Amino acid sequence: MMATGSEHSIFTNMILKGKVALVTGGGTGIGKQIAHTLGSHGARIVIASRKEEVLRDACAEFSAQDINCLYVVADVRDPEAVERVIEQTMERYSRLDIVINNAAGNFFATLDDISYKGFKTIVDIDLLGTYNVTKAAYTAYLKDHGGAIVNITAPFENWGVTFQAHVAAAKTGVNSLTRSCAVEWARKGIRVNCVAPGHIEETEGVNRIEKVANTGRGLKGSKQDVANTVLFLVSDAAAFISGECIRVDGSACIDMLKVPVDFDAIEG
Ligand code: NAP
Ligand code: COA
Repeated sequence: MMATGSEHSIFTNMILKGKVALVTGGGTGIGKQIAHTLGSHGARIVIASRKEEVLRDACAEFSAQDINCLYVVADVRDPEAVERVIEQTMERYSRLDIVINNAAGNFFATLDDISYKGFKTIVDIDLLGTYNVTKAAYTAYLKDHGGAIVNITAPFENWGVTFQAHVAAAKTGVNSLTRSCAVEWARKGIRVNCVAPGHIEETEGVNRIEKVANTGRGLKGSKQDVANTVLFLVSDAAAFISGECIRVDGSACIDMLKVPVDFDAIEG
């Protein structure tokens, strides 16, 4: 098994000092790690998703570590709720520099078994939810001040994806939206990029996939690996990077054989 598994960031502490970052789905999993990492590097944080208790607990955890945090309950499928997230961000912090579209839904089902509503639900959360948050943040603040957006997708764009046709369609749409926003908004000083995690240990995403599939050769990264890539992309280190998608999968996606191989048989 390849263990990448970063446990901390290598960036200096306060590279995001003065910035405000919104992370959707920031109360759990990868989103929580991203929020914590941006907060640990000086950003003030807003997290938003559907479950108040989860958000409240995450915010309390962050606050106990001196991370300034606001939570707002919202379903990213509801544009009015999303606008309230941005309004409350403005009321509390008067700015919004960084937007991380991480909220997503997933279930594993064959095309035979997915209903009309099931397919639409994933497109609504992943693609339209990303659009809703991006549009609201752009209109209220980013268009006049610039900023950085990172969309959390998946490395599905050029592949056929068994059991995840709905997710692959939605996430590929997000990749496309990312590029369109990047080219339209470059002149506004807004950078828009994607991070596409592979299998990330100790997450709901991997819990779900492991019920239906063997996760290949066991290439797994950590939530911190994803968060570090996001931190790089929103930092000035990535000042001229926009419209890009970075896979964080330890090469798993481009491995043509995708089955365990016996290196001793060749090397011996
Ligand atoms: P997770 O913990 O289940 O994260 C999903 C988050 O999205 C939750 O905090 C959830 O919070 C929020 N959410 C779901 N539906 C929402 C909605 N309609 N409105 C607002 N918030 C909503 O799963 P994860 O594994 O960390 O996944 C995080 C991101 O990484 C996702 O974009 C996923 O597609 C991507 N990803 C993960 C992996 C992996 O290995 N885990 C691989 C590739 C891509 P509430 O329930 O409170 O709403
Ligand atoms: N197989 C097939 N269809 C499924 C399904 C499954 N395992 N799970 C849900 N669906 C379908 C439902 O049947 C429903 O369609 P129907 O009314 O035609 O039957 C549709 O999807 C919507 O389901 P519902 O439970 O009403 O949606 P929701 O908005 O409450 O929840 C989900 C959204 C389904 C994505 C839910 O799993 C969720 O909230 N996920 C967030 C966490 C997550 O997915 N984390 C992993 C991120 S990688």
